[in-house]
Amino acid sequence: MAVGIFDSGLGGLTVLDAVQKRLPDVPFVYFGDNAHAPYGVRDADDVYALTTRGVERLWDAGCDLVILACNTASAAALRRMQESWVPRDKRVLGVFVPLIEALTERQWGDNSPPREVAVKHVALFATPATVSSRAFQRELAFRAIGVDVEAQACGGVVDAIEEGDMILAEALVRSHVDALKRKMPRPEAAILGCTHYPLMQEVFQEALGDEVAVYSQANLVAESLADYLTRHPDMQGPGTESGYLTTGDPKRVSSRATQFLRREITFSPA
Ligand code: DGL
Repeated sequence: MAVGIFDSGLGGLTVLDAVQKRLPDVPFVYFGDNAHAPYGVRDADDVYALTTRGVERLWDAGCDLVILACNTASAAALRRMQESWVPRDKRVLGVFVPLIEALTERQWGDNSPPREVAVKHVALFATPATVSSRAFQRELAFRAIGVDVEAQACGGVVDAIEEGDMILAEALVRSHVDALKRKMPRPEAAILGCTHYPLMQEVFQEALGDEVAVYSQANLVAESLADYLTRHPDMQGPGTESGYLTTGDPKRVSSRATQFLRREITFSPA
C-alpha cells in the first residue's frame, strides 16, 4: 500500500503534508537526504547518484511508486532514471508536470500540440541546478507557446531553511524577488519551483505583490497522485507502515519537521 516521497531534505514535507491530507488511507514513507542537502548546488551526476540511492531505500521500505518531491532531482536525474534505471515493476514520478499542466490549463495526459495560454510572463524561482537544467522551460515548451519565462536561481534559501534560519531565508527570498523584478518588472505568475519554498510562500507573495498568482506544487501534486493511483491501483507497493527516514541527524531533523508542519514528526535513521 505504501508510496514513497523523496526529497533532499525538509522541502518535500510540503508535498507530504498535502498528499497525506488528500489520501488519508495511503501509508507514506518519507525519505529526506538531509546529510547531503542542498542538492541545488551539485552537478547532475551527483544528484543522480544520491537520488537513486534514496529511491532504492524507499523501494526496500515497500514503496513501488516513489514521488520525487524535489524539483532539483526531477530536473537533473528523473529522465535518466526513467530511461535506464527504473525496473518495469516500479515507478518514479516527478513534480514538474502537474504544475505545468495547471499553468497551461491542461488536464492530465492532454498531449495535444502547444497552444497559447492566458499567462504570458512567468517568474520561476528555483535552485541553481534546476534553473541551469532548463527542464521547466523544456516541459513548458511542449504545452504552451508565447510564454516568456524569467528564471531566478535562489542561492542560499534551501541551506537557510535546512538550518532553521528563517530570518536569513526571508532576507534571501526578498533579495531574489528584487533581482527577478529587475529582469521582469511585471510577472503575471510566479512558480515556486523548489519544494522548500512553500515554507516561505507568504514572503514570496508579499514581495511579489497581490496581483501576482503564486503557484506552488503541494496541492497540485496531491491531486495528480490521487488521479494516478485511481488509474494504477497496482502501483501502491507492499509496504503497510508510514514512516520518516533521514540520512541526517534524526533528532535535529524531527525537531525542524515538527516546527514546519506544526505536528509531531519523528524521523528514524535511513
Ligand atoms: N527541495 C528541493 C527542490 O525542490 C531541493 C532543494 C535542494 O536540495 O537544493 O528543488
